[in-house]
Order: sequence, then structure tokens, then C-alpha cells
Amino acid sequence: MSQLIDLARLFKDGDEESKPLAGRSVALVFFNPSLRTRASMQVGIYELGGNAVVLEPGGTSWTLEHREGAVMEADKTEHVAEFVRVLGRYCVAIGVRSFAALQNWEAERTDPILTSFAKCSEVPIINLESAIHHPCQALADMMTIREKLGEGRKKVLLTWAWHPKPLPMAVPNSFALAAAQMGHDLTIAHPPGYELDDELMGEVRRQAAGAGGRIAVEHDIDKAFAGAEVVYAKSWGGKSFYGSPERDISTRAQYRSRWIVDEQKMARTKGAIFMHCLPVRRNVIVTDGVLDSASSVVIDEAENRLHVQKAILAKLLSE
Ligand code: CP
Repeated sequence: MSQLIDLARLFKDGDEESKPLAGRSVALVFFNPSLRTRASMQVGIYELGGNAVVLEPGGTSWTLEHREGAVMEADKTEHVAEFVRVLGRYCVAIGVRSFAALQNWEAERTDPILTSFAKCSEVPIINLESAIHHPCQALADMMTIREKLGEGRKKVLLTWAWHPKPLPMAVPNSFALAAAQMGHDLTIAHPPGYELDDELMGEVRRQAAGAGGRIAVEHDIDKAFAGAEVVYAKSWGGKSFYGSPERDISTRAQYRSRWIVDEQKMARTKGAIFMHCLPVRRNVIVTDGVLDSASSVVIDEAENRLHVQKAILAKLLSE
């Protein structure tokens, strides 16, 4: 991860101008909406000398089936098995965005769409946010922390925030894993019932132990902010509520006024920077006062998506 951040830094500073994608194309497949991922990937591929082929299954390309052995008599026109192998004849890599449907936790935690792409593809698959992970975002987040606060272990808070509806866990999962890999002192704050996946937390703890970091889980939001150098806000849905969004919505209602990042909570930190992957709902996840303050680094964080993705593409496709 550190090497990729170093390369991203060279791209950002204009000290690396190689064009490893000259004359080559990369496919970008979006099952869900996007601003940052789509724009930064398209721009990054262009800046590396390549061409982006952007497809939206069910919109600008055929509806896609990913299940093995499916009898395709319903609404799906093409199978991932053909889709990715055909794209692989035109493109040197395929990026894919496929959110969790929040219907079936046990099935979705296996990342079925991303896995089907990886299984069928003869070219590298890049995860542009799947049901379970958002690695490009996490890499940009780690670059941003290093850029703003310098090298070394930081006291990082990942805090759940109230949102009117349940959202996927990809961003908090990847952020927690990346922060652990970087050896940060990470506190994950959330109300009871919004625990991250047990297996993922096991890996987060293993990575933290290997990198010399520490992991804590906190249910008291005021306590969680004390002394933090980084505040990373994100809302996510509870695993036990997958398939029952109305139960999640009624459970989280009690947290609406407490679980928001505001000026009072930020005052408890050690001059923390405020981070969010965006898009963010103003005065729901975070107040205008915090988002528009000098401590907010969300725009630089979004910019860093471009630089880290160029580093990933260059590393993956240069040889
Ligand atoms: N953070 C992020 O992935 O943004 P988009 O959903 O706009 O791509």
C-alpha cells in the first residue's frame, strides 16, 4: 500500500508522466451510479494514454446474469461468462462497480457479482466498489491521511452516522482494513447492532497486530471523539437487517440526533481532520459547519482517487 501511495504522490506532483496505457483500452462497468469513481477512472485512463470503455448493464449494455447455472428465461439477456470474455478481447482490464443489494447478508458477503467477473475473466478485474469492499477509496483515504498528517501512526476514528436508509458496508470495511494495514490506532464507533462482519474484524485485528496498530470498538459517540486526529464518517446498514430495511430504519431512528458529526464533537478531538468518501448528506451525516470548515479534507480526498487509481493502473498494466 505504501508503494502505491508513493507512486500516486509522484503522479500528483507531476513527477511521473509515463503512458503505460498508450494504445490500450480499459472497460469500466457500472451497475450503480457514480461521480468520483467514474470520472476519476476515465480521466486517469486518459492521462495514462489509454481509452475508457464505459458500460452500464441494463442501460448502455444488455442486462447481465451472474449466477452459475441460471436458466435465463426472465429479464437477463447476457451472462457474465460471455460479457467479460468478449470485453477481454478488446480491453486490457475491466473495472466493475456492483453495490450490495442489502437483501441477503450471507450471500452478499461473498461478493457474488465481483467474484463472477473475476472467475470468468482472462484480464485483471479492478474493484470499483463491490458489495463488501471499496479498495480504491481506502487507498485514497490512506494517501490523504499521510498527506495531511505525515507518516506514522495516527489516532483514527471511523464513526457510523445516522442516514435515512441503510447503506452498504464496503467503505467502512475497506477503510478499517487499510487503516489497520497502515498501523493506525483505529477506533470504530457505532451503535449496538451495526457491527462490521466478524471475519472482516478478525482480519482487521490481525493486520493491526502485524503493523503495530491498535483496534477498539466504541458505542459511546462522545467518548469515541476524544483525542482523535482523523474523523472518518460513514453510515452503513446492520447485517441482521439485510432483507428488512424497515426494521433497520425504525431501529436507527433513535440515533438520529446523536450520531451526526458536529462542531461539539469535533471540539473533543485533537484538531482532527474530517473525512468522508462522498457523496454526503449535509446536516444528516455531518453539519455544514464541519464540512465547510478548514478541518474538512473531503475534496482533497476525492482528488486523491485520481492519483491512486493511476498508480494502481500503472502498476497492474505496465508489465
Ligand atoms: N466515493 C465514491 O466512490 O464516489 P462515487 O460513488 O461518486 O463514485
